[in-house]
Amino acid sequence: MKARVLSGMQPTGDLHIGNYLGALKNWVRIQSDYECIFCIVDLHAITVYQEPARLRAKIEEIAAIYLAAGIDPAQSRVMVQSAVPEHAELAWMLTCVTPVGWLERMTQYKTKAAAQESVGDGLLQYPVLMAADILLYQAAIVPVGEDQVQHLELSRDIAQRFNSLYGETFTMPSTSLPTVGARVMGLDDPTAKMSKSATGTNHAVALLDPPEKIRKTILRATTDSQSGVDFDTLGAGVANLLAIFQGFTGWTDEQVRAHFAGMRYGDLKKQVADAVIAGLEPFQSRYREIVAEPGYLAGVLRDGAERVRPLARETVELVKQRMGLFSELV
Ligand code: TYM
Repeated sequence: MKARVLSGMQPTGDLHIGNYLGALKNWVRIQSDYECIFCIVDLHAITVYQEPARLRAKIEEIAAIYLAAGIDPAQSRVMVQSAVPEHAELAWMLTCVTPVGWLERMTQYKTKAAAQESVGDGLLQYPVLMAADILLYQAAIVPVGEDQVQHLELSRDIAQRFNSLYGETFTMPSTSLPTVGARVMGLDDPTAKMSKSATGTNHAVALLDPPEKIRKTILRATTDSQSGVDFDTLGAGVANLLAIFQGFTGWTDEQVRAHFAGMRYGDLKKQVADAVIAGLEPFQSRYREIVAEPGYLAGVLRDGAERVRPLARETVELVKQRMGLFSELV
């Protein structure tokens, strides 16, 4: 039996090349080796206010992006979190074994909470729901970008605590990071992670940006005061551009070094822009085809939810039995 993989993205903001290189590209690469479930985590999205009509539209946009990037619905399950109520159900049970102190220590919580006037409880519970997404399907591997590593450690801690209180129940999930692009930085500020919620116009390259916009954003990327690429004193901005190039071309470190050593930043940026535009071109045309096909996405999402539901039910019933809750199966 193939090991199970689970991962997901929030339907907020515009998916960018960080989401692609950090996660989505890896999902496509491994999907034939594992039994994969790729989720659109709308319940996570509402931990901060989302305009309802926009959220509804974003859910299908993300699904179309998964498919356009190469996720094959005949092979992998693509589903929306809120379509399978067991995610929320298991999250409550896990909440009850999770110390608040563990949640308050999460870096992402601290950053997001600091940016809000009033902090919703959902923001604190966020990583418990994420643990539920993973443990619900007994996933063995979770392919994500580096910013999710702390959340995954917490998922393991929660699983371990549950297992020690109630007996072996959950598979311990391991994190899978890509070798290149695990943390793509902002193009306007290479000290900050590229983020969907950042507001700067020159911050990110969105996967659906037209070629001219992509070129402009990359040509304006922040570098440093040196004039050309020096691998002995590589600044964060240049290192980020090289990682993006490598992520889109698949070149090895040696090839990159040999090709870019001494190159002027202007030329480097042009080549990075060309590589990203060429890499996204087939993806963008598949995206346009997918969204033009009436009913197709809705069918994929319905089918995905139907097929994962029995797995989710099985885990929730097991957890209920372990905890002594009322279970239909006993
Ligand atoms: P989200 O929606 O913020 O991001 C989706 C994926 O993209 C990765 N990522 C990045 N990778 C490299 N560089 C970046 N700048 C960058 N920005 C984002 C993220 O690491 C992630 O893999 N909490 C998750 C969603 C989630 C989830 C799950 C993931 C909910 N349940 C269960 C895995 C398993 C999140 O907010 O991802």
